[in-house]
Amino acid sequence: MYIKSDRELELMRAAGRIVAETFEKLKEVIKPGITTKELDHIAERFIRDSKGIPAFLGYGGYPASICASVNEEVVHGIPGRRMLKEGDIVGIDIGAIYEGYYGDAARTFGVGNVSEKAKRLIEVTKNSFYRGITMAVEGKRLQDISHEIQTYVESNGYSVVRDLVGHGIGKNMHEEPQVPNFGESGKGPRLKAGLTIAIEPMVNEGRFHVRTLSDGWTVVTADGSLSAHYENTIAITVGEPEILTLI
Ligand code: MF3
Ligand code: CO
Repeated sequence: MYIKSDRELELMRAAGRIVAETFEKLKEVIKPGITTKELDHIAERFIRDSKGIPAFLGYGGYPASICASVNEEVVHGIPGRRMLKEGDIVGIDIGAIYEGYYGDAARTFGVGNVSEKAKRLIEVTKNSFYRGITMAVEGKRLQDISHEIQTYVESNGYSVVRDLVGHGIGKNMHEEPQVPNFGESGKGPRLKAGLTIAIEPMVNEGRFHVRTLSDGWTVVTADGSLSAHYENTIAITVGEPEILTLI
């Protein structure tokens, strides 16, 4: 686990800010009729205009700057000609590199008017992140975060995806440690100030099982139920964690 210096944290704040501002841009245009490819173009232009580099583009051969995952798609949906329609929910995942440092975050948006059950899923997913970070403090253990997220999600009748996890982040998009959204309190490495991690609960309305489509990327729920995603890059401190991908 790599502990960041103050200078490195400065650069991660800058990377995180680009990601957060890109969400502000996209929020205004996520409406029925827009295609996910259009969202990708807007995000890529904004990241580059902000002196960032889209972190996902070319990562393991990934063909776009953002992920856009609609309804039963969990994560890694590839932007394309699909038009968003009223009532859809769309998880947008964005990564940016600034001066060699990474920021990574995801939000799930309702498109136009969405059902109460979709709204609740989006809300519980976001809240689970905030429950998780109450444990993201120096001295606690990594799975204290995981356990908090899992308990909260399951007490709301949903399930957390097991096959994909959060991660350390810094000079690489994925660093040690892995940050599962399920686990046992008191387990895992001890958290230390200066550790930077991306916490990213993926929450399914139905069961936790997922599969990957034949495009090699898009992860969907095995039972076809709705799924939501919420993620921020954070820095552990001796007190409150610092969220780097919020403005
Ligand atoms: N937030 C995702 C992750 O942490 C985004 C990766 S998409 C990829 O893994 F295409 F870049 F792989
Ligand atoms: Co991530």
